[in-house]
Amino acid sequence: MSFTFKDFPADRDDFRSDVLAGLAACPKSIPPKYFYDEAGCRLFESICAQPEYTLTRTEGALMASRLSDIAAAIGPMDCIVEPGAGECAKVRLLLQALHPAHLVVLDIAGGPLSIAAQSLSRDHPGLAVTALGMDFIHDLEAAAPHLPEGRRLIYYPGSSIGNFAPGAATALLTRFRRLAGAAGQLLIGFDLKKDPLQLHAAYNDAAGVTAAFNLNLLERLNRELDANFDTSRFRHYAFYNPTAGRIEMHLASLAAQDVSVAGQRFHFALGETLHTENSYKFRPDEFSALATNAGWPLKAEWELDGFAVQLYGNVD
Ligand code: AVJ
Repeated sequence: MSFTFKDFPADRDDFRSDVLAGLAACPKSIPPKYFYDEAGCRLFESICAQPEYTLTRTEGALMASRLSDIAAAIGPMDCIVEPGAGECAKVRLLLQALHPAHLVVLDIAGGPLSIAAQSLSRDHPGLAVTALGMDFIHDLEAAAPHLPEGRRLIYYPGSSIGNFAPGAATALLTRFRRLAGAAGQLLIGFDLKKDPLQLHAAYNDAAGVTAAFNLNLLERLNRELDANFDTSRFRHYAFYNPTAGRIEMHLASLAAQDVSVAGQRFHFALGETLHTENSYKFRPDEFSALATNAGWPLKAEWELDGFAVQLYGNVD
């Protein structure tokens, strides 16, 4: 068993400057990667268990039912790289089918990642596991020295790519292409366009877990950036924007109010929103056009109940 953890703490300074810049902008926004402090990671796990949020379960069912097909399409692999691995739960299925020698997991939440990766490593003697606590959106290239030579598969499940607007998604997939190398492949899962009311329900669960996840961002600012948000004066507001093809999550101000964050004051008008997340939904052909623009040729695709997994790489 081999397990290595490396933390990239420099990313912490970006949090403060990104938040201050986002609050000073018009409209106000904060990047969704900052949802994932320890409380945010727990709340996200709980979202995935809500009856309305079927995305994660559907992807799991798709991967489990098509696994041998998917593994055959991928072929032999030396290393799996998973950006945003979180609990490292999804990659376990792929490990069973592909038996790579190395696994490299990346996540902005370094603490929870190292715990999850270490326990995965205990379950897989013989697998070399490297966990990198990093903001890969910012720092992906810093992962390159930690990747072994050989055939690399980038695994990016869970519709995480949906957090990026089309141009930014293409840019990130281009960077994945460079990291994977010429012989590399990409296995990526994304949520499909579907009934807007079904999408609406998935981001407005009856138990209020998505609302708590969204509002936790303000609590995080209170905890870590000496902010004074009164969370009872903000409301979770999520809706499907059919023109843009995305769910938008906002925090709407229920009053005209001033808030201070890291010594700076910001004004919220009544009804003004802080935009906290976009979650794009795609058609399969729409998504493959994006990936093709990023230099990834499509090899295979699978679909189940409004969710898709596509495999990219050179056909050999
Ligand atoms: C982890 C980005 C795929 O967009 O569905 C879940 C995050 N936000 N509920 C998504 C999320 C609100 C999730 N992703």
